[in-house]
Amino acid sequence: MNKKTILTILEKKRLSDKITMLTCYDYVTAKLISSQDIDAILVGDSLGNVKLGYENTLPVTVEDMIYHTKSVKRGNSGALLITDMPFMSYEISVEDAVKNAARIIKEGGAEAVKVEGGGEIVDKIKAISNAKVPVVGHLGLTPQAINKIGGFKVQGRTEDKCNKLISDAKAIEEAGVFAVVLEAIPEQLAKEVTLCLKVPTIGIGAGRYCDGQVLVIDDMLGMFDNPTPKFVKKYADISKIIKTAVKNYIDEVKEGKFPQESNIYK
Ligand code: KIV
Repeated sequence: MNKKTILTILEKKRLSDKITMLTCYDYVTAKLISSQDIDAILVGDSLGNVKLGYENTLPVTVEDMIYHTKSVKRGNSGALLITDMPFMSYEISVEDAVKNAARIIKEGGAEAVKVEGGGEIVDKIKAISNAKVPVVGHLGLTPQAINKIGGFKVQGRTEDKCNKLISDAKAIEEAGVFAVVLEAIPEQLAKEVTLCLKVPTIGIGAGRYCDGQVLVIDDMLGMFDNPTPKFVKKYADISKIIKTAVKNYIDEVKEGKFPQESNIYK
């Protein structure tokens, strides 16, 4: 399989060929995902929710992101490897932003970073990109701004908010992002943004007209048995499979059915 790069992603928009991306946080999952020729793997800071058990992404650190990126890197066989810059690792100063992006690339082995926000962070995007690190933007529902947004709600529902999102998208494109994640916005707004940008849009809860799609791997595999947002499609029910396997193991050990003849050294 050919190694995917940012050129692959840009070329796909030109050819109207959909871009595929999934989040991933560990070696074995990276091995499985990349064996299926996925275009990009995102070590998302959703790590905080789905792997570290936090209520939101805010406590996630640069060290956490580097640790998990290294693990994913070892399993990834060809996807473009993008890592989220966590909350407060790029907001405070341009210097912080470049230093932390550099750590994620040098120590973690990521090939690009993702940051959340629009016009207010263009100086950081420009600086990171000028430091030779490809940057993905993220607009719409930006989970690092959860305390400001006031909950996990669909964004861009008023005309003002639509206009703001479109001008943010243009501003971050101008600043140097090579792709933009659009999260939880109406399909028509995502379509408009997709049509007015030269760089690809990758949607999560942003409808059918984005240039690509991304999902959180744990959501699409059904790792949790609680309800997921409407935009998630569960492609498997892994939580059920794991629970059944563990229950069968416990029962068989208790009943003396495991280990059996074929599991014993003679
Ligand atoms: O952290 C994450 O998983 C993300 C995706 C939802 C795009 O940013």
